[in-house]
Amino acid sequence: MTSMRNAATVSDPPQIPPVALDELYHCNSKHGAVRLAFISGRQMRRRDRTVHALYEASKNRFKAYTAAARVDLPRDCIPLDLNLGSAILGRRSRREFTSGSPSPSELGTLLARSYGICGVRHEVTARAVPSGGGLYPLDVYVLQFPDGGIDEGVYHYHVGGHRLQRVSSRCDRRILELASIYPEIIARAALLLAVVADMPRTRAKYGERAYRLALLEAGHVSQNLYLVAQALGLGLVALDGFYDDKVHAVLDLDGVSEIVLLLFAVGRVHD
Ligand SMILES: Cc1cc2nc3c(=O)[nH]c(=O)nc-3n(C[C@H](O)[C@H](O)[C@H](O)COP(=O)(O)O)c2cc1C
Repeated sequence: MTSMRNAATVSDPPQIPPVALDELYHCNSKHGAVRLAFISGRQMRRRDRTVHALYEASKNRFKAYTAAARVDLPRDCIPLDLNLGSAILGRRSRREFTSGSPSPSELGTLLARSYGICGVRHEVTARAVPSGGGLYPLDVYVLQFPDGGIDEGVYHYHVGGHRLQRVSSRCDRRILELASIYPEIIARAALLLAVVADMPRTRAKYGERAYRLALLEAGHVSQNLYLVAQALGLGLVALDGFYDDKVHAVLDLDGVSEIVLLLFAVGRVHD
């Protein structure tokens, strides 16, 4: 028997094409004259004062784990003698590693020359990467597996002090293999690096646009890591293939305001 519904001649409502979230996000995070037109002169002055205060506060502010054990990294970095052209031409993602782990000097150099402080210019600490508004929203974590150049553990790199702050004394390779879409790469790596964005640090100035800036800055850090590793004779690969919240759990981050953007598997390589 034909149902009343099937018999009806009412046509289906037109299908509204779904809006891709990335398109929606991109449009919402555009700078635009319309948005700025709604800000009065007084609001603009207040905003400028806030932005200035933010910049002043962030210049020398680094995330501190006050109760954490600290590991000082060697003060002197290894000179990076490989010329830039050779570093760029030789750079490759490396997924096969030999035994052995980066030494504390190599690890310290990799961190300092990729996201660390490179001196003081005009009374401001100069960093290895540019940063939107000079707010430096990123943090780098080291996940050192057992039998490495430093004790096993999860560490936060304190840029200002060029030291590691131990978040956890365990770094279980099995847990990280299960947190990755590429467990075989994790199984071979000596250590992992995690690039994390602390979104409130930059959202206060850039609003919706902050997410874009954090990703761009992570790209700068990523390329530095590749080139510095190449100069040090280390190998690494950027890994987007990870289950976000499993990695957040290992790093003890909420996964909303502090978010992992990219992992790196790092190890020694033959050539
Ligand atoms: C943001 C980003 C994410 C990546 N994620 C992965 C990944 O999850 N797994 C992997 O094996 N390689 C990953 N890679 C490495 C790319 O596969 C690699 O860069 C590309 O194949 C080019 O090779 P090359 O780096 O040796 O020149 C990633 C690279 C980038 C830049």
